[in-house]
Amino acid sequence: MTDHILITGGAGFIGANLAAALLKRSNTEVTIVDDFSSGDWKNLLHVDCMVRATDCDNVAILKDIAAGKYSAVMHQAAITDTTIMDQRQMMEVNTNAFEDILAASAKSATRVVYASSAGTYGNSAAPNCIGLGELPENIYGFSKLAMDRIAKRWYLKHPATIVGLRYFNVYGPGEHHKNEKDGNKTASMILQLYQQVKAGKTPRLFKYGEQRRDFVYIRDVIGANLAGLNAKRSGVCNVGSGYARTFNDIVENLGKQLQTPLEVEFVDNPFPFYQMHTEADLSDTQKVLNWQPQWSLEAGIEEYIQKLEQGHRGPVEVMCAIS
Ligand SMILES: NC(=O)c1ccc[n+]([C@@H]2O[C@H](COP(=O)([O-])OP(=O)(O)OC[C@H]3O[C@@H](n4cnc5c(N)ncnc54)[C@H](O)[C@@H]3O)[C@@H](O)[C@H]2O)c1
Repeated sequence: MTDHILITGGAGFIGANLAAALLKRSNTEVTIVDDFSSGDWKNLLHVDCMVRATDCDNVAILKDIAAGKYSAVMHQAAITDTTIMDQRQMMEVNTNAFEDILAASAKSATRVVYASSAGTYGNSAAPNCIGLGELPENIYGFSKLAMDRIAKRWYLKHPATIVGLRYFNVYGPGEHHKNEKDGNKTASMILQLYQQVKAGKTPRLFKYGEQRRDFVYIRDVIGANLAGLNAKRSGVCNVGSGYARTFNDIVENLGKQLQTPLEVEFVDNPFPFYQMHTEADLSDTQKVLNWQPQWSLEAGIEEYIQKLEQGHRGPVEVMCAIS
């Protein structure tokens, strides 16, 4: 039997990577729905699937989900620029649309695997555990926490499996568009710093580069999503590497891969809210997904930089050089 998976936000970084990975499996069909607000067609150039340009809570899409057209919904669509402060807009796009999708999928008991975020933890003490320190510091983090709360209400009442994945800082091929739209640079630090070095600039870090984050490679995020398709139970879990690494570590690894020791310019951090230490506790991840990360920061940066140097810019599973 063929699996037909609907990916919302499939023109984006994680969605396009998921689509490319799913299309490598036999008997799998993929439909993408994306409003192209932050995603980019270039991510889909070598991803041969159906694409519908519309909102993820479009009535016709919801009807199809309710009628059982899809074997699973992988919901990635969201406002992903965490500096957007319009609270109503953030809640409508991220939270309300998600509940509409859950309501439709409950009618056909369709599985939903969706993207939550480590933004739900705000600046609470790490390691970050599900159910503890869920104190987001901005409307983006709150919209994701609200999604997790809604998911729980639905899975306690309905038979459909719902799996929420709280991604930490994701990096890897397929995120170029995040540095190209609206003058905003929202791609990972790894790409930002690589592009600064390539432009002949001194890489810049907020003083003094000792901020620690859990950086997770895109291949692990794909792995967690695929595990979500097979999860035996509903739940929300963290998707990270399980380790916090400093921004200075990133510059050091980048220098190794580019075979150039890199000087750093330290600048003041202008953001009143900034996560200083994130680190995924993975005990619930084991229970819900029976999955664990495979990629260290060193290995992830090595593969990523190799691909960037080869001119690869689409999803990691497809080799495509687009200038
Ligand atoms: N990249 C990360 O580090 C990270 C970390 C935590 C959580 N997340 C979450 O992962 C998911 C994917 O993020 P990403 O990094 O791929 O970002 P992205 O911006 O590249 O992808 C989001 C996609 O959703 C689309 N979209 C937005 N609103 C939509 C709507 N109403 N209807 C249809 N499509 C819509 C955008 O056009 C874009 O293609 C998001 O839910 C994001 O909040 C990402």
